[in-house]
Amino acid sequence: MLIIIPDMISREAALELRAQILNAEWVDGNATSGPGSALKKKNRQLPEASPAAQTAQAIVAKALGNNELFLSAALPHTIFPPLFNRYGPGETFGTHVDNAVRIHGGSGTRIRTDLSATLFLTDPDDYDGGALEIEGPFGDVSYKLPAGHTVLYPSSSLHRVTPVTRGERISCFFWMQSLVASTEHRSMLFELDQSIQALTVRHGSTDEEVLRLTNVYHNMMRHWAAC
Ligand code: NI
Repeated sequence: MLIIIPDMISREAALELRAQILNAEWVDGNATSGPGSALKKKNRQLPEASPAAQTAQAIVAKALGNNELFLSAALPHTIFPPLFNRYGPGETFGTHVDNAVRIHGGSGTRIRTDLSATLFLTDPDDYDGGALEIEGPFGDVSYKLPAGHTVLYPSSSLHRVTPVTRGERISCFFWMQSLVASTEHRSMLFELDQSIQALTVRHGSTDEEVLRLTNVYHNMMRHWAAC
């Protein structure tokens, strides 16, 4: 289940965020790599505890909490604080899988990574290369989304960032544990929720069948949610 969240933040807000962090101190991206990734990864990252990162994290966290499409698709339990990375010419991240469990350095909280997300902070015309490629059962997909858009994908997918050959690709990325661990279950809940939303607009929230389907949705959540 790959889901695009258009305008997670506005294009203007994305470019402003990019401008704010551009001149902060960046470090080697291998700060958050698993052992298998370190050799494949060549990029830079904002240190997660830096003031620039924390200000930017707060902006992204607020946008996530207010985005109904994101909440419906991800059913987030815990979101690892968003991180920021940067790829200039020659920088890349070869095919890898994200670690299944991550420990937040500040709090020691452990999360199981069910979903990974990239929020693009650079317009695609401003760099060449730098596509996020994700492998899946129906073949590989490739994303270079407009600034402010987000792609949400199962953390179980092999993925890579192709080498940048011009410009600089700056993005926000984050992992989250979902209330529903199974991608298949989460995907069904998402489809059902989207249909209920559409039917509610058409028939009103007090419509008997809308209520019945809403009840089914919540009962499925009761079966599958791990709080
Ligand atoms: Ni990754």
